[in-house]
Amino acid sequence: MWILLVVLACDAALVSVVETFRHGARSPVKQFSWDNAVWPQGYGELTPEGMRQHYLNGVEFRRRYIETAQLLGPNYSVEDVYVRSTNLNRTLMSAESQLFGLFPQGAAIKNQFLAQKAVPPIQVSGLANAQAELGLNAVANRYQMIPINTVTEPYDNMLSGYRLANCPRFAEIQTEQQGTSTYERKVTQYNDGLQQQVLEVFKVNATFSECGVFSDTLHSMKFHGYDWPAGVTEEMYNSMEEVLTYQYSYYWTSEATSLSSTEFMEAIFSQFDSTINGTAAPKMSLYSTHDVTLIGFLIFLGIWDNINPPYASSLIFELYDNNDVYQIQVLYNDVLQTIPGCGNPCTYQSFKNLITPKLTPDVRKACQLQGSTTEFDLDPLSVIYQYT
Ligand SMILES: *[C@@H]1O[C@H](CO)[C@@H](O)[C@H](O)[C@H]1NC(C)=O
Ligand SMILES: *[C@@H]1O[C@H](CO)[C@@H](O)[C@H](O)[C@H]1NC(C)=O
Ligand SMILES: *[C@@H]1O[C@H](CO)[C@@H](O)[C@H](O)[C@H]1NC(C)=O
Ligand SMILES: *[C@@H]1O[C@H](CO)[C@@H](O)[C@H](O)[C@H]1NC(C)=O
Repeated sequence: MWILLVVLACDAALVSVVETFRHGARSPVKQFSWDNAVWPQGYGELTPEGMRQHYLNGVEFRRRYIETAQLLGPNYSVEDVYVRSTNLNRTLMSAESQLFGLFPQGAAIKNQFLAQKAVPPIQVSGLANAQAELGLNAVANRYQMIPINTVTEPYDNMLSGYRLANCPRFAEIQTEQQGTSTYERKVTQYNDGLQQQVLEVFKVNATFSECGVFSDTLHSMKFHGYDWPAGVTEEMYNSMEEVLTYQYSYYWTSEATSLSSTEFMEAIFSQFDSTINGTAAPKMSLYSTHDVTLIGFLIFLGIWDNINPPYASSLIFELYDNNDVYQIQVLYNDVLQTIPGCGNPCTYQSFKNLITPKLTPDVRKACQLQGSTTEFDLDPLSVIYQYT
């Protein structure tokens, strides 16, 4: 697939990139009595395996975007790179890991005189040794510091637009969709079948939504080399995972996808428009998010494959300048996507024409409930579980 892209890029220059990704492998989000694996980082945290995934992504993107396409210079530049993450440890740390792969070598101090001057006001014991070891490296290994911007929960409509705190209307849509006959049939099917099996194996009479979280924990256990509880078969796991995937997909009405995708699409347009019209803009921006965030974006674009995005999944928007005709390429986990309604190649103009009418003009306002001042009443657990 990549070879194809490089061929296309020969007469078209890559001028801007936006990537959004799911955080890497993490521990389960919640403790269960039947989970006897050891999670030294605690629950819902990025594991060393997750760091590795993003570090390798970063190394590969350095090869693609710095060495091959030369979109970015070899050293980090604050003007060229913008990074934003949801305000959670695992997404912040995923972004850090990826950036370390992208810019493994960072800043140096200009000369020995300044290196000697660069000391803090407190006494540092063993200062001379530390200075000798550092040489001109700003810090050990010449590690490059890179800022990661984040926005706290009630304001993060861009990357967490499906969260109750950000968008009560979104939660209301979820509840509405839980009243559909399809949803009710899924729950009945579960109660009449899988629930009994789950009870036997896990010794917990798990509800429909709990079953989804169980499958998420099983996934995390397996990824990290732990055995499942006795009695869990591959077939049973698959059925449980189907429940989870359904729970991530039933509520994406066109209104819901628009509410949760608008600010992100606007960020892409702003970066690409500025690039085209010569206004200062980052050449690459990275957005560190969650599986549900990606599902929303993928459904909005009409390209979701109905599979829960694996850890470290990557959705990339590339803008090419093909002799002043701007074209866009969308890659999801390295597969070039055909955006329904956009040609192939998909020009940036037709992409914009396609997307713009689907955006919600004032997301914050549209997220408020009509004529209500009280907190929207929703099972808080069902909301927490969607943050994975
Ligand atoms: C993040 O890590 C801190 C400890 O550094 C911990 O107290 C907190 O619960 C974690 N929270 C989230 C949301 O990741
Ligand atoms: C990148 O930074 C290193 C110092 O860390 C410097 O030696 C090198 O010349 C820089 N390269 C460019 C292209 O600025
Ligand atoms: C398990 O929970 C379901 C509702 O989710 C209930 O109908 C059923 O009776 C429960 N079974 C047991 C054995 O408690
Ligand atoms: C360039 O595009 C940006 C982003 O859409 C916009 O804010 C800005 O006004 C444009 N500038 C010019 C000179 O067209």
